[in-house]
Amino acid sequence: MQIFTTQQAVISQISLLKNEGKRIGFVPTMGALHEGHISLVKKCLAENNVCVVSIFVNPTQFNNPEDLQKYPRTLEKDVDLLKNVDKNILVFAPAAAEMYHKEDLTKIFSFDFGGLDEVMEGHFRPGHFNGVVQIVSKLFDIITPDTAYFGEKDFQQLAIIRRMVQVMNYPIKIIACPVVRENNGLAMSSRNRRLSAIEHKNATNIARILRESRTFAARKSPKELTEWITKQLNAIDTLAVEYFEIVNGNTLLPINNWSDCDYIVGCIAVFCGKTRLIDNITY
Ligand code: PAJ
Repeated sequence: MQIFTTQQAVISQISLLKNEGKRIGFVPTMGALHEGHISLVKKCLAENNVCVVSIFVNPTQFNNPEDLQKYPRTLEKDVDLLKNVDKNILVFAPAAAEMYHKEDLTKIFSFDFGGLDEVMEGHFRPGHFNGVVQIVSKLFDIITPDTAYFGEKDFQQLAIIRRMVQVMNYPIKIIACPVVRENNGLAMSSRNRRLSAIEHKNATNIARILRESRTFAARKSPKELTEWITKQLNAIDTLAVEYFEIVNGNTLLPINNWSDCDYIVGCIAVFCGKTRLIDNITY
């Protein structure tokens, strides 16, 4: 396992590999790795000669300083986990100073999202996607992968990355990977480890209610279904829905009727105690 902490070192290694004609796959992460991340890594290994995993808790995408401070940092464990998957994974784990000049940390990076950032996560976490685009574009410039892997768990992030690639003309193929869940249905997330035992049990209702809603969605309007889901979840101890929106999966704009488009996704953010969890379901 090779671990790089400087841009210069990883750039020269990748350039060597490219000269050998190797196909480079890339999985950007913020560490605290779990089976969800590993599913992306395995897909990347299967489809490329080289898999680069970045581990970097990106300060500019946290709109809440306490969230940034509490974000788990478990580099050693992450490296062990990756070693067990494949010894040939290349890890890029820079310090913040390697990625940002001090003054970048106080400025908001601007990007034309075409409205994709104004709804859901973008609305409730202002500036979040500016930080995501800022770091992912820096990482794309350093790693220059052929293909990059993102999870559908962060549904809106995936749409925004696709737009970024299109707007900035990156010659990089974006692959969407399905949500990996615990046996009880809870979408895996680095944030799940902040949940107490009881909160964890309560949080499993998010996926359960979403799944249940799919069985009778057609008999209700999107608005009625939204109200039903919100009511069911808010009735459960420690859960508080921040938003649930039924949207066009491509534009992320809310729909009023099931016939409005062919690709319909319900996206949710729920506080479980103090921990904010997100999930989504395709209707
Ligand atoms: P992070 O939350 O660490 O997630 C890294 C990648 O793993 C993302 O593409 C995310 O969608 C995917 N992922 C997380 N949980 C998953 C699950 N249960 N099933 C499938 N995929 C899952 O997303 C970020 O980091 C950052 O915003 C980043 C893109 C690295 C930029 O800083």
